[in-house]
Amino acid sequence: MTTAPPRPDSPYQSYVYAYPHKTAYRPLPERPPLRELWAGEAQHALSLYLHIPFCEVRCGFCNLFTRIGSPEGLTTAYLDALERQATAVRAALDGGARFALAAFGGGTPTYLTAGELERLCDIAERRMGADLRAIPLSVEASPATATADRLEVLAARGTTRLSLGVQSFDDAEARSAVRPQKRSEVEAALGRIRAAGFPVLNIDLIYGIDGQTEASWLRSLDTALAWQPEELYLYPLYVRPLTGLARRGEQESRAAWDARRLALYRAGRDHLLAHGYQQVSMRMFRRAASPQAGAGEYACQTDGMVGLGCGARSYTSQLHYSFDYAVNATEVRGIIDDYVATEDFHRAEVGHRMDGAEPRRRHLVQSLLQAEGLPLADYRARFGGSPAEDFPAELAEFAERGWLDDGDAEFLRLSPEGLAHSDAAGPMLFSPEVRALMAAYEAK
Ligand SMILES: C[S@@+](CC[C@H](N)C(=O)[O-])C[C@H]1O[C@@H](n2cnc3c(N)ncnc32)[C@H](O)[C@@H]1O
Ligand code: SF4
Repeated sequence: MTTAPPRPDSPYQSYVYAYPHKTAYRPLPERPPLRELWAGEAQHALSLYLHIPFCEVRCGFCNLFTRIGSPEGLTTAYLDALERQATAVRAALDGGARFALAAFGGGTPTYLTAGELERLCDIAERRMGADLRAIPLSVEASPATATADRLEVLAARGTTRLSLGVQSFDDAEARSAVRPQKRSEVEAALGRIRAAGFPVLNIDLIYGIDGQTEASWLRSLDTALAWQPEELYLYPLYVRPLTGLARRGEQESRAAWDARRLALYRAGRDHLLAHGYQQVSMRMFRRAASPQAGAGEYACQTDGMVGLGCGARSYTSQLHYSFDYAVNATEVRGIIDDYVATEDFHRAEVGHRMDGAEPRRRHLVQSLLQAEGLPLADYRARFGGSPAEDFPAELAEFAERGWLDDGDAEFLRLSPEGLAHSDAAGPMLFSPEVRALMAAYEAK
């Protein structure tokens, strides 16, 4: 790995899991009231996301919005603030608003105790009106925090998908990624998760770690496969500013690291395809015939997303919004402290307006990066026209690079090479305005 910025032709520019990225959000001077933002929005099938910004450790690769540990009383104060926010947001929605999907993410939601997880579910159900036992509910966990008492609460409250961050089953690789864990602890956590009986187990693994070879990568994959997970996420390692690994300095040239990650991707993909998994996106693989039980990486093209917590985003058709965003430990702590001190949650503070061609770009980015591709009829029904008419230059460039599969007249789809280059293709679809905002954003 290396800390140098990506080469312009690198396949690894950035992971585009939502468009636009939070680094394109800016303070909204008018602080629009939530009631105005949600008036007139379709609310019959909303998604609910609750963000828990706590972890036991800070892993060397991680730039997610989270802090290590919590001083006495902070998790209670955080849940109190979540409850106030939930009450304010619910009041801004229609009486008939319904949730179709829910997820608890982080950080590490299972950093909370079993009793606190009960309270988190109560907030989702009683304050927001989400019927957690009737809808898919996905929860992220780390091995050390996936304890039997917490898992029992999550299973009883209706969790359909438990996603475990494993990263590597190789102790030396975990050390190299600054992920303090032992394989034996990970295996014990997997045993507890399977015993709790969630319909879907997802395992996250990372490739491109220093010292990782194709043989050690395939061994990690085989160890994961022994648990027959319904889903697997294979993440290429990124080393971003302000993270632990970024401070470690140069180990390998950028070009060599890119080539190693691409080779590991192909080896991992082929291995999973040979073991009965289907590719859903560059990162996500699903075991054939397993249930689709979570807010995984599928093309969710509905706009309505209600995010609660200081790192959560919310989406209406016109505005994406959240709170301030940081990676640096002091900044993160400051934002969490501000959040728990907030009494008035009736307004949106930071965001990005989805006007002009932005909704079309978002639709294109989120559908095209799925292995299934973009159904052209859906695009036509929603926007009129076609992606080829709206984004001719971008798609001509993709075609020239061999990234498009032109075998199906009904779908716009990436070729296997295009899918392998998802983290380069996605950013090429960003609007000039979003690009400029992201470039001007200063990491803190
Ligand atoms: C919220 S975490 C998962 C839950 C839990 N906090 C844990 O780490 O076990 C989301 C996942 O993103 C992936 N991830 C985070 N930062 C990454 C990076 N810099 N490079 C590659 N993958 C990363 C990891 O696989 C991680 O499990
Ligand atoms: S990878 Fe997971 S456990 Fe590690 S710091 Fe990031 S969110 Fe926390």
